[in-house]
Amino acid sequence: MHRSITIHDLYKMKREAKRISALTAYDYTSAQIVDRAGVPLILVGDSLGMVLLGQDTTVRVTLDEMVHHTKATVKGAKRAMVVADLPFLTYQISETQALENAGRLMSETGCKAVKLEGGKDIAPTVRRLVDVGIPVLGHIGYTPQFVHLFGRSRIQGKTWKSGLQLVRDAKALEAAGAFAVVLELVPMQLAGEITRRLEIPTIGIGSGVNCDGEIQVFHDVFGLYNDFTPKHTKRFVNLAETLTTAVKSYKEEVECRVFPGVGQSVSMDAEAINKIRAQLDHENNNPAKAIAVV
Ligand code: KIV
Repeated sequence: MHRSITIHDLYKMKREAKRISALTAYDYTSAQIVDRAGVPLILVGDSLGMVLLGQDTTVRVTLDEMVHHTKATVKGAKRAMVVADLPFLTYQISETQALENAGRLMSETGCKAVKLEGGKDIAPTVRRLVDVGIPVLGHIGYTPQFVHLFGRSRIQGKTWKSGLQLVRDAKALEAAGAFAVVLELVPMQLAGEITRRLEIPTIGIGSGVNCDGEIQVFHDVFGLYNDFTPKHTKRFVNLAETLTTAVKSYKEEVECRVFPGVGQSVSMDAEAINKIRAQLDHENNNPAKAIAVV
C-alpha cells in the first residue's frame, strides 16, 4: 500500500528532474484507472463542463458540480494527489469568497488542493488560500475561463512583451505560494524559460517538452471526446470507436436473444415454478380463491 502523493513529492520530482505525469479524471472509475496506472496527479478539471456535460466552454460549470465530481474522484484515487478546479467566478469576487469556496471544495470532497486561473492579478488570493493551508495550483497561458476575451489564436506569450508578462505571472504565483503552475498553450521555448526560473514544477498542456510535467484531458487522450481534437493532444487509444463497436454487439445480442444466456441467468426448482403455474390457472378459473403471498 503506497502513501498518498503530496506537494513535497512533486517538489522532489522537479529537483530530481523526474517528469510529472498528470491527467484529468471526473469520477470514481476513471480515477481508479488513472491511479492504478501510477499517475501521481489527478485534476478534476472544469473541462468536465465540456467532456461530461456537453457544454461549449468551462464557464457554466458550478461549484456544486465540482463538489459532486470531486467527491467521486477522491474515492477512486488511493495514491494520486487530487486537485480540483475552482470554477468561473467562484474566486475572483473577493479573497473571502475564494476562501469560502476553496474551503468548501476541500472539506466536502477530500481533495488535496485547488486550481485557479490567472497570474499576477490573482496572486494575492493565492497567498490568502495558502496562508490558511489550502495548496494552490496556478494556471496561466491560455486560461479557458477567459475564453470570451481571447481571439482566434489560442497560443499565449508569443510576443516578447506577452511572453515576459507570463514569466512575471509565473514568478508572482510562485512567490504567493502556489505549489506548481499549469502552462497552457505557451510556446515551448517560453515554457522552458519559465520552468528554469521557477523552483516549483511547471505542468504543461500544449506547451511542449520543456515543462516539468504534462497534463492532458482524459477524454482527449483516450479518444472519448470527438467534438474536436486539440492539436496538442495525442490519442493513445480510440475508446469511442472501441465502445461503439461493443455497444453494437450488445444491441445485436439482445435483439437476437443471444444475451443474456444461461450463463448470466439464475434457475429455480421445477417444482416451484410448476406450483406457481398451477395456482395461477386455478385462480383464473376461481378468482375468489386467490391466496395472499408474502
Ligand atoms: O479543466 C481542465 O481540464 C484543465 C486542464 C486541462 C489543465 O484546466
